[in-house]
Amino acid sequence: MSTETPNQGYANQFPGIVGQSTDMLKIFDLVEKIADSDSNIVITGETGTGKGLIARAIHRCSHRRDKPFIHINCGAIPENLVESEFFGHVRGAFTGATTAKPGKFALADGGTLCLDEIGDMPRDLQVKILRVLEEREFEPVGGVKTIKIDVRVIALSQHNLEQAVLKGIFREDLFYRLCVIPITIPTLRERQPDIQPLVDHFLEHFNTTKHAAIRGFSEEALTLMRRHAWPGNVRELKNLVERLVVLKREGEISVDDLPEKLRHTARGAFTPRSMELPTDGICLNSAVNEFERTLIYQSLKKTNGVKKKAAEFLNIKRTTLVEKIKRYHCDEPLLQKKTR
Ligand SMILES: Nc1ncnc2c1ncn2[C@@H]1O[C@H](COP(=O)(O)OP(=O)(O)OP(=O)(O)O)[C@@H](O)[C@H]1O
Ligand SMILES: [Mg+2]
Repeated sequence: MSTETPNQGYANQFPGIVGQSTDMLKIFDLVEKIADSDSNIVITGETGTGKGLIARAIHRCSHRRDKPFIHINCGAIPENLVESEFFGHVRGAFTGATTAKPGKFALADGGTLCLDEIGDMPRDLQVKILRVLEEREFEPVGGVKTIKIDVRVIALSQHNLEQAVLKGIFREDLFYRLCVIPITIPTLRERQPDIQPLVDHFLEHFNTTKHAAIRGFSEEALTLMRRHAWPGNVRELKNLVERLVVLKREGEISVDDLPEKLRHTARGAFTPRSMELPTDGICLNSAVNEFERTLIYQSLKKTNGVKKKAAEFLNIKRTTLVEKIKRYHCDEPLLQKKTR
């Protein structure tokens, strides 16, 4: 049962950011080291891993903390407004530009500009951004006066930018200009030690904001939380805790309160306990096929050859099982007895 005072013992130098896995501790150390350096940074990680949170933490730890932190999603700006969003425009620059408007670069002057989803930035804009980063100056749309700026850029990406460079989607020169310090945030499934602290942290938060009194999670429920793959990472976990707090309101969260997809992992998480690998390598495909064949054969043996039961045991459809039996020639004598 997780009944200890929420968040106790998980404190680090970054308020609101929870993490005690080795990977997160390394990231905290790195953030402290580089925050004040003014070097540009690229933060990569799957959706919901906390890229935005870390970017803000870097800004807060830097000497720029009292200046603006400006966030812009590079993939979400209509094509005709892109330049104006970044560089601003003068009055009358285009139809509808009735007043002058500063762009994100000017707004971030002295502070930090966070370029989110940098991989989605159109290629022609990439050239212009590179120029600003190199020359530290730009002209607003329709303007002739050059504006000088002092901005630190933190770029975020869900995808590996180096791959995007190799594919020709992202300019190599801009990549090197931005990626002075790369930070990769691992997925939540790769940092299991963070799950309980995050659960406690969000429980404390939602108990307060939703005026609820959930004591904690049962040990079994926590085990399922640890086994889940969390494709939406910390955001998914946070949303789940919110939903559970709102629906249950008090007492302890048990396995029955968890959504089906989490309860499912209890069955799905079977892995062989010991596996000795040969020194000279294996063929992954045939090894996986052989493993599947063995599981099917053993399940059929366990259910005395009754396909319906074996399919239930394996959590697959009976028709899928029948196909696999054919493919793997699992039609041993034990199966010939039963055809159900
Ligand atoms: N280590 C953490 N401690 C506490 N809260 C976290 C942590 N990591 C992420 N969160 C929370 O999870 C949510 C998602 O985080 P964030 O928006 O920073 O992720 P992201 O990587 O930028 O995702 P996306 O690529 O989808 O924008 C936010 O509500 C954030 O506060
Ligand atoms: Mg984000």
